[in-house]
Amino acid sequence: MSRPKILISRAVFPEVIARVEQFADVQTNQDDVLWTKPELIARLQGMNGVLTTGGERIDAELLAACPDLKICANMAVGYNNFDVPAMTAAGVKATNAPDVLTETTADFGFALLMATARRMTESEHYLRAGLWTKWSYDMFAGSDIHGSTLGIMGMGRIGQGIARRGAHGFGMRVIYHNRSRLEPVLEAQCKAQYVSKSELLTTADHVMLVVPYSAESHHTIGEAELALMKPTATLVNIARGGIVDDAALARALKNRTIAAAGLDVFEGEPRVHPDLLGVPNVVLTPHIASATIPTRLAMANLAADNLLAFLSGKPALTPLN
Ligand code: GLV
Repeated sequence: MSRPKILISRAVFPEVIARVEQFADVQTNQDDVLWTKPELIARLQGMNGVLTTGGERIDAELLAACPDLKICANMAVGYNNFDVPAMTAAGVKATNAPDVLTETTADFGFALLMATARRMTESEHYLRAGLWTKWSYDMFAGSDIHGSTLGIMGMGRIGQGIARRGAHGFGMRVIYHNRSRLEPVLEAQCKAQYVSKSELLTTADHVMLVVPYSAESHHTIGEAELALMKPTATLVNIARGGIVDDAALARALKNRTIAAAGLDVFEGEPRVHPDLLGVPNVVLTPHIASATIPTRLAMANLAADNLLAFLSGKPALTPLN
C-alpha cells in the first residue's frame, strides 16, 4: 500500500498525530466534535485505519459503508464500542490498549474507594457551603479501609492491581469473583481468595467492580445484589456504565440499603441518572480512571503503534481478532 490513510476521530495529543503523520495521511478532529454515526461514516470514506477513543460505535452498518477500512484501534482497554464478530466477518482488525493503563487505573480505583468510604466529597461540599461551625464526634464518620474486607468483581489485570494495593498496602482481606479462577501463583501474589458472587456481596465491606461490559455483565449489580450487601458497605464502579443498574443504586443509596458508592462510569454517560445527582452519599467522577498524562499518552501511542504496524504489513501489537 502507498501511504495509508488514517482518521483520528477525536482530539488527541499533537505529538501522537505528528508521529502518525510521518507514515500516513491523517485526518483529525482536534476541535473534538462529537460526530454522529453518519458524520463518522462520511469521514471514514477512503480511510484504511481509524483511531477511536471508546465512544465510537463500530458495527456491521458502519463497516458495510466503509469498504476501505482495514483496522480500528481503540485508545481504551474496554472495547464494548466494537462489534468484534462483525469486524472479523468484515475482515477488519480490532485492537485495544491494555496494560499501559493498569497501574494508573488501579490507583484511581483505590482513590475512589477511599474517597467514598471516608465521605471526602460529601464533607468537602459541606465545608464549601459554609455549614462547618463546630467539631463533633461523629461528623462524616465513614468506614475503615485498613483491615476491612475488599470484594473485587472481575479479577483481570486492573482487579489484580487493586487487590495488591488492598492486601499489601492496607492489610485488607481480599476476596474476588471472576468468570475463571486465577492461577494459584497469582492468587498468592494478590493474597486473594476466590468466592461465589453471593458470598462476595454478603461478606465484603467494600465491593469494587472491574468487569468488562457485555450483554452477560449488564446489570451485574441491581436491586437484588444491592440487597445482599451490608448496610455499611461501599460500592465502587470503575468498569463500565451498565454493569450497575444506576436507578436501583440511587434508590439503595437513598434508602441506605448500602452506605455509599463511588462511580466513575455511568449508564448512558455523559448523562448521569438524575437520582444519583440528588443523593449525598455518592462520589461521582467523569470517567477519568486512566487520566494521567503519561498513561493517556501511552494509550494513544499504543493505538497509533497498532495502526502503523498493521497498515505496514506487520502484526498488530494488541489484537482483539
Ligand atoms: C477506559 O474506560 C478504558 O476502557 O480504557
